Amino acid sequence: MGVEFKRIRPLLTVHDSLEELARLTDTAGLDVVGQTYQRLDKPDSATYIGAGKVEEVKTLVGELDANVVIFDDELEPRHQRELEEIFGEEVKVIDRTALILDIFAQHAHTREGKLQVELAQLEYRVPRLTRMWTHLARQAGGRAGGGMSGGVGVRGPGETQLEVDRREIRRRISAIKEDLETVRARRDDARTKRQQTELTVVAIVGYTNAGKSTLLNKLSNADVLSADMLFATLDPTTRKVIMPNGREVLFTDTVGFIQKLPTQIVAAFRATLEEIRDADLLLHVVDATHPHVVAQVESVEDTLAELEVDHLPMVVALNKIDQLPADSDIETILDLTVPTVRISALTGEGMEALLLAIEAAMVALLTPISVLLPYQRGDLLSMMYERGQVDSEEHGQDGVRVYGRLPHRLIPYFEPYQV
Ligand code: GTP
Repeated sequence: MGVEFKRIRPLLTVHDSLEELARLTDTAGLDVVGQTYQRLDKPDSATYIGAGKVEEVKTLVGELDANVVIFDDELEPRHQRELEEIFGEEVKVIDRTALILDIFAQHAHTREGKLQVELAQLEYRVPRLTRMWTHLARQAGGRAGGGMSGGVGVRGPGETQLEVDRREIRRRISAIKEDLETVRARRDDARTKRQQTELTVVAIVGYTNAGKSTLLNKLSNADVLSADMLFATLDPTTRKVIMPNGREVLFTDTVGFIQKLPTQIVAAFRATLEEIRDADLLLHVVDATHPHVVAQVESVEDTLAELEVDHLPMVVALNKIDQLPADSDIETILDLTVPTVRISALTGEGMEALLLAIEAAMVALLTPISVLLPYQRGDLLSMMYERGQVDSEEHGQDGVRVYGRLPHRLIPYFEPYQV
């Protein structure tokens, strides 16, 4: 069920957004049997869509024998309750957020990923507790079916039960938050260790299904899960890649973006997405063959801005060119201001050019520095050769005078010798 609001211009048309919703639904393991939408000025206060449309959907649900109605927009808890009331016991009403959370729940593999998703799900559910939570009610109060009151807001045993459920969920939320703290502390350690290697970090970002995992596999010959599913990757994976100039760089894969990414997800995954914040450079992988490539790029840019990482230098990989018509004018269509390279992560075409573009962007990142290195600090001179660039080197009595460039994170080592 899609809704088009008359005054709002979304990234995708209601039809295209519904198509994407259908793909998400498929990824979640459900079959799509029908679709419909409505143009509205504003949501109906009780049922989100208008009364006539509600009846139409109810009839359609009956005819198609459907048991789930998915809204493409986030529903208020009261809308959801009201609609379930109207559609009846057999029909579940969910929204895009719940659907994405469900997919995330299926795809989280690491402990942190699982905890993050469970947290997001519980926070989503607290204001929506209704009859479907009877099983939790049973666990909490030992009273079977106690939560079946249906009429929320009516005083009595049902309400009390709901309060018990809420308390139980809040307790679980605190427990998860504590667990997450522990897991994150461990991951921060890993990250600190990685930073101590002082290697440049490239974060791979992109719309879901753009080919990020496939690219990381190709670059590193590692076997990272890649699948034609939305959100196959939920946990960040980092691989070392040898660049054409022989330097080692770390590439890290991140969770895919999507338009209307639920705020709960952005919040829950903020820590994971912080990997992006620690990066030196962003590699934005774009599915150049996608019919909505422009909207996808825009949506990724919006999310990057929301994460406050849009200042980082970026290289764009226009992926899947093995499927792109030869006369495609994708560069003009996208009209980007950052370097772009056509690649196929599948066939490996364009890999060398991509790495060279990344190298060039890395050189632009280097900070110029002038130092007088004592002869016993030959290690620093080699570091500058290996990790940065030496523009001139003069040997004098008191040491080597060097003009060169370095990644910002290496500057502190050279500061004592700066002239
Ligand atoms: P998320 O985990 O959802 O963020 O996806 P992802 O960006 O990591 O995409 P993934 O690497 O899983 O690839 C998605 C699909 O696109 C897979 O079916 C890949 O085989 C396919 N794919 C990736 N790169 C290419 C390419 O260069 N050409 C073609 N034809 N298909 C590709």
